[in-house]
Amino acid sequence: MLQQKVHGKPLIYLDSAATALKPLAVIEATSRYYAQEYGTVHRAIYAMAAHATENYSAVREQVARFIKAPSADQIIFTKGTTEAINLVAYSFGKAFIQPGDEVIITEMEHHANIVPWQQMCEERGAHLRIAPIDEEGNLQIDALAKLLNSRTKLVAVAHMSNVLGTINPIPLITEMAHAVGAKVLVDGAQAAAHMPIEVGDVDFYAFSGHKLFGPTGIGILYGKKELLEALPPYQTGGDMILAVSWEKTTFQAPPLKFEAGTPGIAAVMGLGAALSFVEAVGMEAIENHGKELLDIATEKLQAIPGVRIIGTAAHKGPIITFTIDGIHPLDAAAFLDLKGIAIRSGHLCAQPLLRKFGLTAAMRLSLAPYNTASDITAFIEALDHLTLQLK
Ligand SMILES: Cc1ncc(COP(=O)(O)O)c(C=O)c1O
Repeated sequence: MLQQKVHGKPLIYLDSAATALKPLAVIEATSRYYAQEYGTVHRAIYAMAAHATENYSAVREQVARFIKAPSADQIIFTKGTTEAINLVAYSFGKAFIQPGDEVIITEMEHHANIVPWQQMCEERGAHLRIAPIDEEGNLQIDALAKLLNSRTKLVAVAHMSNVLGTINPIPLITEMAHAVGAKVLVDGAQAAAHMPIEVGDVDFYAFSGHKLFGPTGIGILYGKKELLEALPPYQTGGDMILAVSWEKTTFQAPPLKFEAGTPGIAAVMGLGAALSFVEAVGMEAIENHGKELLDIATEKLQAIPGVRIIGTAAHKGPIITFTIDGIHPLDAAAFLDLKGIAIRSGHLCAQPLLRKFGLTAAMRLSLAPYNTASDITAFIEALDHLTLQLK
């Protein structure tokens, strides 16, 4: 990807928060599976299927180690973060939410951590409460404390905001929620690619393979053992059953209870290679590199007249959302594209959050281990050029 030209210019990819580029090892693991190691999982006795099942289970173990989960049986493979959150909204809602109950999310959530709860609350007669953020993009912990009460059944919160970059204090939020008997789901879609993850005492943790240098179509849901055992299945069919008769079906124990049908096996193999890549580079090195580039980009952006940065929390990941006075974000992104620079523009899958800042659209650059200071220089030069031309 980084060797090709876009509109005759070398590609500068600054949209890793949307989806990350893939190391060759990930591409090779996926094609190796199809070319040499192809077989289905959990079903057949022949060698290729047994081998695929072994490799598939090994990746589950690898994921458990990556997030410091107590056991691989607590790792459920899904299509992505979105499906992981929908799974919990459906199954937890069905098992535990009664009319009058409350679910809390925050003002900084991605649509994937808003809409499933909205739908579930509507269906179950529950109420969705929104914990506010301040002007810098910090979650207002005092306001969250006031919203928590004995009717609160679940708090769903982003670990790192995909718009503001804010990193939320998950252990504190978890302690506060648990004190009133509520469970906690953490949307780790952004955080998983930027910092070491330790699930600790959270009840559910969701993230996506494709933002973590892995393939699309694979996500992870971690859950506490007793909760996964108590939840009803999300989808039903093959693979997730123990026994089926015309009268009744019994289900597998977790995680298979939540993995109906033939899964995305190739994507799981790619995910394993992605986790090995992260391990080899080192999450701390990735985190430090991100911080360095974030500081450089923030300083240079702030120096451009008319630039407004949305999200200035002290504790944030390498994501910068911004606007430029008098220039529409879509025009700016189209201009940058002509220079080979890929940034995100639009509502950033967080319409209520942008609205809070008086916006319907913004631009976002997001950084990854393959970005360099010279990518930022090229980006800033292009923006300078743009502001001079359009003003
Ligand atoms: C914070 C956050 N949550 C959830 C999602 C949804 O992830 P996916 O589209 O991989 O399901 C995203 C993706 O942009 C995200 O940034």
